[in-house]
Amino acid sequence: MDENIVWHQHGVNKQKRQTANGHKSCILWFTGFSGSGKSTIAGALENKLHELGHKTYLLDGDNVRHGLCGDLSFSDEDRKENIRRVGEASKLMVDAGLLVLTAFISPFQAERTMVRNLVEEGEFIEVYLDTPLATCEQRDPKGLYKKARAGEIAHFTGIDSDYEVPVNPEIIINTGELSIEACVAQLLDYLKEKEIIG
Ligand code: ADX
Repeated sequence: MDENIVWHQHGVNKQKRQTANGHKSCILWFTGFSGSGKSTIAGALENKLHELGHKTYLLDGDNVRHGLCGDLSFSDEDRKENIRRVGEASKLMVDAGLLVLTAFISPFQAERTMVRNLVEEGEFIEVYLDTPLATCEQRDPKGLYKKARAGEIAHFTGIDSDYEVPVNPEIIINTGELSIEACVAQLLDYLKEKEIIG
């Protein structure tokens, strides 16, 4: 970073925005295989939070890769850069006072830890969707596993690209066993228990 660039402290800060919103801000970081239910559960939770009048934003891998990260591939290096950009964007949104939900495979522990370290203690909530690869492949909602098995997509997570299981996630969800409503309830309980929402 350029030493001539100095941080400017503005008058309206995170604390003031959180007070105005009536809740704290944080990142709910959903990680897991493609087809594990990240977007579905994050979307259902966002609906519920929105209904409750809370301020939210959902950053979704498939959507972000159309714009902010549209220049990135699925090589290990580009996946790292994808998560770095999304991490920085999420940090800004936490500063903006939002409940940020992110749905990215984010296969590497190092990048997830990097994002955790971008924000304050308690502001990064890692949600591991512990859905077995076999279940994700059976669901195959976008037909991508079939293509990957046929050799039509390279570096597909779980097939010929790694997924590192989270070491110490705040929340583990097994979408194979729980209904969407039950998953949402588990997440809401956590947010209330930590007094992030009232
Ligand atoms: S990440 O690894 O960089 O975190 P991200 O969540 O942005 O991935 O994008 C994953 C989505 O891109 C998947 O849900 C799937 O729809 C699509 N996709 C396309 N190619 C691949 C691939 N090679 N590996 C994984 N997902 C892929």
